Amino acid sequence: MPRKRTYLVCPPEHFVVEYAINPWMDTTASVDGELARKQWEGLREALVRLGHDVHVLSPEIGLPDMVYAANGAFVVDGIVYGARFKHPQRSAEAVAHRRFYTERSEHPWRFVPPVATNEGEGDFAYVPDAYGGIVLAGYGYRTEQAAHTEAQEIFGRPVISLKLTDPRFYHLDTALAAIDDTNIAYYPAAFSDRSRRVLEQLFPSAVIAAEDDALAFGLNLVSDGRHVVLNSDADGLAAKLSAAGYEPIPVDLSELKKGGGSVKCCIAELRH
Ligand code: ARG
Repeated sequence: MPRKRTYLVCPPEHFVVEYAINPWMDTTASVDGELARKQWEGLREALVRLGHDVHVLSPEIGLPDMVYAANGAFVVDGIVYGARFKHPQRSAEAVAHRRFYTERSEHPWRFVPPVATNEGEGDFAYVPDAYGGIVLAGYGYRTEQAAHTEAQEIFGRPVISLKLTDPRFYHLDTALAAIDDTNIAYYPAAFSDRSRRVLEQLFPSAVIAAEDDALAFGLNLVSDGRHVVLNSDADGLAAKLSAAGYEPIPVDLSELKKGGGSVKCCIAELRH
């Protein structure tokens, strides 16, 4: 059931909270940089221990959010749909990710530059064996809906648009995650009524997260189909996942949470 994955991560070398572009970021709160690096290293080691290929992107000075590597692109079937950030503070990150795919990787990725604003895997998820392979896409805060149609034309996969309605869940990956090749976990209240209905129709046996687990960034998880790496504060969700036959791997990322992200935000999945 677990499948070996290829991931891209970026160490929090220059991580600070010096601007606030989501409700979790408080520029007056103190961040322990040393602890952030230690916790991130724990996350990287967990992925390596599970047997995955983990590539590392070089962090750049002046790009404190670069640690949230999931936002740099969305990769399916070897095709890389580049990101175009909403906020100017993060726009240069897209260039670093593009260089990774076009210059630094041995794998022949096909890079497609974006037209519409989109924040990569922050707002796009892929479920490979559901309905032959579908993309779930969020909008409302960062990614424009135009990016959803752009993605559908680039990948030739159905893209399901989902409206996010709670600013605390400003990226899709804060409220929904693929837990294996056919199923997802999500927090219904983060979505509009109609989008919730769409999710119920498509994924009747989804794992539903409670509010406290969603607010603890429990859904900001990465799964290989069996092992689910998730924030250690989301005990309720971890218990639900165990009961459903998954193996939760809790990691503490308290410092990176201050930037408004957790496990998934730090990990981009490269799908060959
Ligand atoms: N501070 C970052 C931002 O607001 C956090 C990004 C979190 N990444 C994610 N994939 N949700 O853009």
